[in-house]
Amino acid sequence: MSDSASGLAIETSGLVKVFGETRAVDGVDLAVPAGTVYGVLGPNGAGKTTTVKMLATLLRPDGGEARVFGHDVLREADAVRGRVSLTGQYASVDEDLTGTENLVLLGRLLGHRKHAARERAAQLLDAFGLSEAADKQVKNYSGGMRRRIDIAASILNTPDLLFLDEPTTGLDPRSRNQVWDIVRAVVAQGTTVLLTTQYLDEADQLASRIAVIDKGRVIAEGTKGELKASVGAGAVHLRLRDAARRPEAERLLARVLDAQVQLDPDPVALTARVGTDGDGRGAAEQASRALAELARSGITVDTFALGQPSLDEVFLALTDRPAPHTTDKETGRETGRETGKEEVSA
Ligand SMILES: Nc1ncnc2c1ncn2[C@@H]1O[C@H](COP(=O)(O)OP(=O)(O)O)[C@@H](O)[C@H]1O
Ligand SMILES: [Mg+2]
Repeated sequence: MSDSASGLAIETSGLVKVFGETRAVDGVDLAVPAGTVYGVLGPNGAGKTTTVKMLATLLRPDGGEARVFGHDVLREADAVRGRVSLTGQYASVDEDLTGTENLVLLGRLLGHRKHAARERAAQLLDAFGLSEAADKQVKNYSGGMRRRIDIAASILNTPDLLFLDEPTTGLDPRSRNQVWDIVRAVVAQGTTVLLTTQYLDEADQLASRIAVIDKGRVIAEGTKGELKASVGAGAVHLRLRDAARRPEAERLLARVLDAQVQLDPDPVALTARVGTDGDGRGAAEQASRALAELARSGITVDTFALGQPSLDEVFLALTDRPAPHTTDKETGRETGRETGKEEVSA
């Protein structure tokens, strides 16, 4: 999908945007492989939207460089615009028009003939579960329907790169799942997706690689597994039948797991950190090997639990504070209208 030699859809180095005293984006380096979903994960105010706007040529960087499919966002802005599409915090659809009218109008603006525009509109409305709402004004759509029509509008012409800026913020779980399915379908068509999100589970579900950003800086980057592994993987918690065997169990675990073993206040309990291979599989394998060794030595384990690190823990480890979770502050209106309506009209 990329005509840049690097195979990267997006490449930035030292990207900066300053608003007065605020360094909204403070030296961001990104390398987004073409054909994937790339997650930009960060709390409110982290600089996600500002980054997306610069990449979409809507905002001029104050420093650094950014290329989209090899085209410089400043010097070759037109070439960039021809390849990208954007949805999220910018409304492209008209509230007073129906779903069909919006998509046909936008299709005509993109140069489709009337018949082709109608056909594409119907196809997208169907694919996005909006057929029954096709003739309703968008202002009567629920929050979930509104996100879907926004995304439909942005992929009328299949873009090479789609920016989805917090596409599910404030949505209920069912609507969020519908948007996730759409994202998966879009990327299956070959489109690269840059997805910003405040939801750790969303990045985990959709993205192949994730950049965690905080205060305008990338504080971690990698595959989900790499991020989890960098935080120190998981931990296995054991409770023994017999407290007297604990010193022996401690030595055995330290040897088998090649890790520090911690003696818990509870005299029969121990905890050992385990490494992972990135998908968390390594931790489970190591833990079961350790259990087998304990059994072979005649040490009875009453209970054990394997804790895998979540992306929440990743954020905590990286920033020394928990990942802030989104409230409905920004999207209260949509969330309020959501209740119950989706079932009836979609
Ligand atoms: N047009 C603007 N003028 C002044 N400050 C802005 C503007 N846009 C964003 N900011 C500030 O830049 C920082 C990053 O904002 P933003 O990119 O919107 O973050 P996010 O999308 O991650 O929530 C915030 O502190 C925000 O208040
Ligand atoms: Mg934003």
